[in-house]
Amino acid sequence: MVKRLLIAANWKMNPPPEGSLLPASPYLEHAAVDVIVLPGHLDLERCIAARLITGGQYGHPEPKGAHTGDVSIQMLARLGCRYVLCGHSERRRDHHESSAFVMEQVVAALEANIHPILCVGETLEEREAGKEHEVVKHQLKGLPEHGEITIAYEPVWAIGTGKTATPQQAQAMHAFIRPLLPKDLHAATRILYGGSMNKDNAEALLLRPDIDGGLIGGVAQA
Ligand code: PGA
Repeated sequence: MVKRLLIAANWKMNPPPEGSLLPASPYLEHAAVDVIVLPGHLDLERCIAARLITGGQYGHPEPKGAHTGDVSIQMLARLGCRYVLCGHSERRRDHHESSAFVMEQVVAALEANIHPILCVGETLEEREAGKEHEVVKHQLKGLPEHGEITIAYEPVWAIGTGKTATPQQAQAMHAFIRPLLPKDLHAATRILYGGSMNKDNAEALLLRPDIDGGLIGGVAQA
């Protein structure tokens, strides 16, 4: 099976890069690969209006309620978002999102007909202690059996550090993750790699059999 790659640009808390909303945006839908953008919440509408395939970087699983400052996944769906990131390590770190809460987001996204991208990955300390498999397995616990889910393996030590996982390290973790997915969905589910991916290292990573795309931060903001 020839896999169709998914490239997701995570703009984090930065404005859309120059030219990204123009008619000839490099982020427009592409014949050979799926391309999506993940802007800050205030830029979502502009990206959708520019005909980019757009996703939220976070959404609260409850449809509405007393959560000052929050935005629900259902609100993202109403706006026209097609994707939502769930459990990016910066959210887990800055907002203390637990794996159980992150899985609630995945379920809420599916209910709202948005495609969740579930982020998993270990910290440097966890890898040094040989716990990376245990950590990632825990983060995948309770994953619903559904075809419209993407996984993003992002080792925390590689995010924004310029220290990419080697293609061998990334492939090894992706090959570990795939059999943990609900059976019947092993082949169909895309597993993205994220963490200092750039034009120099992307090809070697994407040629690996279990790496189905990239979640790209730093270089997608330039
Ligand atoms: P990076 O970020 O490409 O800057 O490492 C990836 C991410 O955080 O999704």
